[in-house]
Formats: sequence, C-alpha cells, structure tokens
Amino acid sequence: MTERSDSVGDGRPEVLVCRDLSRSYPVVDGGALHVLQGADLSVREGEVVSVTGESGAGKSTLLQLLGGLDRPTSGTVVVRGQALDTLNERDLARFRNQRVGFVFQFHHLLRGFSALENVMMPQLIAGKPRSEARGRAEELLRRVGLGERLGHSPSQLSGGEQQRVAVARALANRPDVLLADEPSGNLDMRTSGRLHDLLFEVAREESSAMVLVTHNRDLAHRADRELQMEEGKLMDIREPMQSRAGGRHEV
Ligand SMILES: Nc1ncnc2c1ncn2[C@@H]1O[C@H](COP(=O)(O)OP(=O)(O)OP(=O)(O)O)[C@@H](O)[C@H]1O
Ligand SMILES: [Mg+2]
Repeated sequence: MTERSDSVGDGRPEVLVCRDLSRSYPVVDGGALHVLQGADLSVREGEVVSVTGESGAGKSTLLQLLGGLDRPTSGTVVVRGQALDTLNERDLARFRNQRVGFVFQFHHLLRGFSALENVMMPQLIAGKPRSEARGRAEELLRRVGLGERLGHSPSQLSGGEQQRVAVARALANRPDVLLADEPSGNLDMRTSGRLHDLLFEVAREESSAMVLVTHNRDLAHRADRELQMEEGKLMDIREPMQSRAGGRHEV
C-alpha cells in the first residue's frame, strides 16, 4: 500500500470519484467475464489522469462507466456529488450531454453536418439558444485551429482535423469530466503530438477532470498521475520520487 502523490494539490475539489467499481459480462457457457473488479479512482478539477493497460484489460469499459454510457455490476461513480446509479435513463442521458465530454479513437462526428453544427449540437440538445451555441462553437473551433473550416463536413476534413472537431465538441457544454479513449487514433506521430498538446491545454484551461486512456507511454507520462489497469483494478504506477514499484492505487 502506498500513498499517492497529488501534483494538482489537495485544495481542488474532487470532480470524479469511483469506488469499488466492478463490471462483469455474461459469457456463452453461463459463466461471467469479470472485467473490472473493484476499481477505485478520484480525479480533481483540472487534473489529468492517464490509464494504460493491456488490450482487453478493461480501460474502455471503465470510461463507459465513468461517462454513464454503461452501468456497473457493483460500485459507484459520483460526479460532483451526483451518484450516477440514482439516475434513470433520461437523467443519465442529460448527465452525459451536460457533464461529460467524450473523445473516442474515431471521432464519431455526424456526417451530414458541418464542423460548426457538430459542435453546436450538444449545446442545442442541452437547450442553449442557437446564437449562444454558435458563438461557443465558433470560439472552440478557432481554439483548436479550425476557424477557417467551420462549414466543412467531416468528409472534407483530414483525420487530424476531424479529431480536433471532436475535441471541440467534447468541450462544448463545459463538461466536468473529459474522457478520452485513444484520442489520436490512427493519426501520424506529429499530428498526434499536436492533438495531445491541444487536449492537455484545453482540459487545463477549462478545469475539466480528464481521464485519458492510451497505449502511448509518452502521452501517459504527461498526465498528472499515471494509473495502470491490472486485473480489473487501477494501480498507481507513478509513485512519489518517480519510483515504479507499483502498488495499489489509494485515494
Ligand atoms: N459488451 C460486452 N460484452 C461482453 N464482453 C465485453 C463487452 N465489452 C467488453 N467486453 C470484454 O471486456 C474486456 C475488456 O474490454 P475493453 O474494451 O474494456 O478493453 P480495453 O482495455 O479498452 O482494450 P483495448 O486496449 O484493446 O482497447 C474484453 O475482454 C472484452 O472482450
Ligand atoms: Mg479500449
């Protein structure tokens, strides 16, 4: 057992807390696949936490639970004091729309809509007036370097540009929590590097709590804290004094 270092400082409020999170899937022979088995995590405002781990370790499963896209078999996820297990499907959809920003490996932009409309969409769903949604979308698209591409549809944008639109969209409703799953997907190294810079910048500027899942060690290392998914739990792999002895992640 080890105390973890907290580079962001204890003064900032905890935004995202999950306790003893488990997720099992039924398998064909009638048994169960225990993917998460008691994962604990807490992320403060403005803090970036990376999660690495082998393929199939449960990283995407974790993000889906944190973002209310899936429900745990047991355990709790609490975002700014709101326990997700108390929300019905409708409230959970509203929670996802207003409190969570997702950036996936593949952007999932809406094809029939422009970059601007894609970034306006979550805001319109949240009930924001059109003019306000447009203003915020323009500001964000300029922020990610796409001020000259507002009217382009996803098919008229490069892969890196599409991912930048996805980052802008994720931030549209000023989410408490930003969840990124291999956000640079299949981009080349330079484009990935720029996207990572951008993610770190915007997450900090917007004071979002970010959980970043990646296989990229260098990227993981840029986070305030590095966790590893192992046997369904989250282990702190960057300890005080940078020792890498491992140890149970304590929160
Ligand atoms: N809906 C599902 N039904 C059954 N099994 C699932 C389901 N979703 C995920 N799994 C299983 O859970 C395990 C963890 O999957 P997950 O996608 O979380 O892994 P991951 O750590 O994100 O891997 P990768 O690095 O390859 O993206 C896998 O073995 C997968 O087969
Ligand atoms: Mg995954």
